[in-house]
Amino acid sequence: MPWRVAGKVAIVTGAGTGIGRACAETLAREGASVEIANRTATTGEETVRRITEQGGQALFCRTDVASESDCARVVQAALGRYGHLDILVNNAGIFPRHSLEETTPEALDEIMNINFKGAFFCCKHAIPAMVQGGGGSVVNMGSLHGLLGSPNLVAYAASKGALLNLTKTLAAAYARRLVRVNYVIPGWVISEGEIRVQAQEGHDEQWLQETGKRMPMGRIQEAQDAANAVLFLASDEASQVTGAVLNTDGGSSVFRGRG
Ligand SMILES: NC(=O)c1ccc[n+]([C@@H]2O[C@H](COP(=O)([O-])OP(=O)(O)OC[C@H]3O[C@@H](n4cnc5c(N)ncnc54)[C@H](O)[C@@H]3O)[C@@H](O)[C@H]2O)c1
Repeated sequence: MPWRVAGKVAIVTGAGTGIGRACAETLAREGASVEIANRTATTGEETVRRITEQGGQALFCRTDVASESDCARVVQAALGRYGHLDILVNNAGIFPRHSLEETTPEALDEIMNINFKGAFFCCKHAIPAMVQGGGGSVVNMGSLHGLLGSPNLVAYAASKGALLNLTKTLAAAYARRLVRVNYVIPGWVISEGEIRVQAQEGHDEQWLQETGKRMPMGRIQEAQDAANAVLFLASDEASQVTGAVLNTDGGSSVFRGRG
């Protein structure tokens, strides 16, 4: 089988750990050249090292997606190195637990700036380059919380809801110019970020694995489960898929009872 994204150029934000790293490694394994846009240099450079060790093409660009100028720079870096841009994965995100009353103005700004505005700015600079190249694929890393009420993740849920609307708005705006924009809903993924957040609540990795067995399909997810969906949406196999929500949550959104 030929590589599924051979010759394409991708930017993956937040690719220093977790789901973003799995997306970057998967796209690189399937033939894309990947720019790792991450706020933390050590983990971003580690992702580049892992990809190049496997014979893939990768480039690190230190990026805080909350900064529009960083988002513009990341697009320019991809164009400068590879000459075109085909895929953008807006994955960078933070998910601190806050109820409505606990959400400070600073926390609200930080969550919206990274989870929503970061994707907005990356789209703003990447999509014109995709249009210039004849089309492209944007994949936004969403969440079930973007669709449902989440009492202890109020600002996070609102940011992912805004991201869902941005997905549909841009899918409509750019369909004629062959830029596709889609939204992936991962399940409960055991990433570095999730391990950190759970540790603050006194839960260790073993607790995560055990609790995961109670999920509808019997396990907590790996980052690869979401990366597989991103690969499909990034590839030409999805050339008629835009404005879609691809749910890889292992049944969490439909399972109401006990199995
Ligand atoms: N883990 C889950 O269960 C889960 C479920 C649904 C959705 N998601 C979403 O998936 C995405 C990735 O989450 P994860 O679990 O892999 O988390 P993670 O914390 O392991 O990875 C997030 C990455 O984003 C980077 N990052 C954070 N802020 C940034 C910024 N301002 N600019 C650039 N990079 C930044 C971090 O350095 C890190 O490498 C997030 O958008 C999250 O909301 C995660």
